[in-house]
Amino acid sequence: MLLVAAGITAVVVGGATGRAASSTSTGQAQPATPSGTPEPTAPVEPVRPSPSATPEPAPAPTFDRAAHSIDDPNSIWVVVDKLRPLNPVDYSPDDLVDVPIPYANEPRMRHEASDAVVALFAAFTAETGLALQSQSAYRSYDTQTNVYNKDIANLGQAGADLSTARPGTSEHQTGLTIDISAQPGQCSLAACFGDTPHGQWLAANAWRFGFLLRYPADKVDVTGYEYEPWHFRYIGIDLATEMHNTGVTTLEEFFGLPAAPNYN
Ligand code: DAL
Ligand code: ZN
Repeated sequence: MLLVAAGITAVVVGGATGRAASSTSTGQAQPATPSGTPEPTAPVEPVRPSPSATPEPAPAPTFDRAAHSIDDPNSIWVVVDKLRPLNPVDYSPDDLVDVPIPYANEPRMRHEASDAVVALFAAFTAETGLALQSQSAYRSYDTQTNVYNKDIANLGQAGADLSTARPGTSEHQTGLTIDISAQPGQCSLAACFGDTPHGQWLAANAWRFGFLLRYPADKVDVTGYEYEPWHFRYIGIDLATEMHNTGVTTLEEFFGLPAAPNYN
């Protein structure tokens, strides 16, 4: 009776503290065992993974940001901006081909970029029933000099620097870039191209073919150029997909490079 009473008291106290119940229960008398007889122990089942258990997910592969050079002008990841001129400044690719697409000015691009543009144009027409054309693709150092000088005549130096790269700093000189417009023309090389079905589709889908809308409206302070919804830079499907998935919209931000609003 005494033991039972003590046990009841202990349980009540333990209930009051909320913790003592287990310690008091281990203090209770154990049933006696015959001396010298080892206490029977229950066989211990080895812990095996249940066949229905979900396997651990494999860690997501990390994107290798050093897979290609961002400095070599022959690299599809080369980053060219107002602070990163091509080296050499008169660089010219050695694998330029004619791009078999409709055009306003006959386009040439590096082979890989040309194949990607052909695939992009074909998908656009298959998915929308509309048509695109090239306005401008590869531009040599000398051609870029002419374009820039015309812009200075029309817009003045500050205006020109917001819309056209100085020779040696244009992505068009890499052979990886194309200016695209609607066919027939509609808002060609104008901001309103971004509101056309053509511009909308390109903004949403160019990444599938390895292209980046290089000068977004909200990143003028980073790129140094006004919104150009027609200017698409080939960077390859791997990088374009990674940028699409991570929501990073400029090469400067993706590679942790300084913003390039102005020349040095
Ligand atoms: N319009 C772009 C910035 C270029 O001239 O390369
Ligand atoms: Zn362009």
